Amino acid sequence: MKGEPFRIKMVEPIRRIPAEERARRLDEAGLNVFLLRSEDVYVDLLTDSGTGAMSDRQWAALMTGDEAYAGSRSFHTLREAVESITGYPYVLPTHQGRGAERVVFPEIIARPGQYVLGNIHFDTTRAHIELAGGRAVDLPTPEAADTSSPFPFKGNMDVEALRAFIDEHGAGSVAAIVLTVTCNSAGGLPVSLENARAVAAVAREHGILLLLDAARYAENAYLVREWDPGQSGRSPREIARDFFDLADGCLMSAKKDGLVNIGGFVAVRDEELYLRLAPRVVAFEGFLTYGGMNGRDMAALAVGLQEALEVEYLEQRIRQVRRLGERLRAEGVPIQYPVGGHAVFVDAGRMLPHIPPEEFPGAALAAELYLEGGVRAVEVGTLMMGRDPETGVERRAPVEFLRLAVPRRTYTDNHLDDVAEALVNVQRRAPRVRGLRLTYEPKVLRHFLARFEWAAER
Ligand SMILES: Cc1ncc(COP(=O)(O)O)c(C=O)c1O
Repeated sequence: MKGEPFRIKMVEPIRRIPAEERARRLDEAGLNVFLLRSEDVYVDLLTDSGTGAMSDRQWAALMTGDEAYAGSRSFHTLREAVESITGYPYVLPTHQGRGAERVVFPEIIARPGQYVLGNIHFDTTRAHIELAGGRAVDLPTPEAADTSSPFPFKGNMDVEALRAFIDEHGAGSVAAIVLTVTCNSAGGLPVSLENARAVAAVAREHGILLLLDAARYAENAYLVREWDPGQSGRSPREIARDFFDLADGCLMSAKKDGLVNIGGFVAVRDEELYLRLAPRVVAFEGFLTYGGMNGRDMAALAVGLQEALEVEYLEQRIRQVRRLGERLRAEGVPIQYPVGGHAVFVDAGRMLPHIPPEEFPGAALAAELYLEGGVRAVEVGTLMMGRDPETGVERRAPVEFLRLAVPRRTYTDNHLDDVAEALVNVQRRAPRVRGLRLTYEPKVLRHFLARFEWAAER
């Protein structure tokens, strides 16, 4: 079956503004696509986070939301849904994923300078670890940085490097290990079950807390089912459960595989950890039975979590993203391969080899793609990596990516064909594309608010 497992009940008009107007809007935005107005964007692939379409069942659930401050029925519905999927009985709702990060990291980082190890931390995760006085260290599998390697599990953590790190620095210096599934910064590619088991064994051996960043756990489970012959007969739900069983808890941005526009949670197995985290939810997010969400949001999320594990849904989702990747590859655009769950990652460093990392090839390509086709995408590279908080030195990304993130159940293949066409047009004039120079840069999470000017032609 090639068709989508849904039909469309409501539409939202979009349009592509003329090229001269796009140029003006981009200048006003300091060449940073984050600072554009969405009405000036034709196809918005900035993020798959909170940008998807809810189902009729989710909209119906909204109407059942219990908006009580304490003891909301919708919280209990959500808690039961989370426990049924993860096996974790203790659920703390938060307003989104970074709310969960703010609750967890200051509590588990016992003293300044402790490490939080991961495959590749997401940018807000890295920021919250550092804001809590910790040090975020990425230990990705070496294949993650090789966009031409066909190895599918580029989300894996380098287990040997993990062991070596712990031997060198001591287990006491490690506050936690966070496995991000799928690994956004490695091209949305999955962590294999085998790798998660190996990481969990190291964590257990050294008594280190293991958490999943579960934002795209359902896509991870689906890709494991596809690419690990040993898992092919199993359901995404069963595979996902194996991952949760290996960890002590998870942080969740529900804006991805929760299929909602806002929301998140922390879920843990251990009551003692829950009791340590709970006051932080009350202080920063809201009372324990809403934590920054409306009752109706929690009701819709409880449904979305179940829908995101349906095989037909995941099949269409992954197929659509993959189709975009295949189109680009057929035209010779260098992309992270194979294509992962939520996005196509263009290797901007290879496409624009004349632009050095300090002129941000991914961000320059994002600006050009907007000028070309009104398409918005995001740099995942040196700009996003930011600077080392101690030395102020720019951290080089292993690969300079431009991420084309596909919102869930939102665009058709025709939209994505327009995206491919625009990118191929940029590729045709690649040698003339200029880099970007920062004119303004905030201290943390600089990519969101930075402003640029065009660098000189090379
Ligand atoms: C892997 C991962 N973790 C955490 C987050 C943060 O979640 P949120 O945007 O809901 O704060 C994101 C968001 O994009 C993400 O991709």
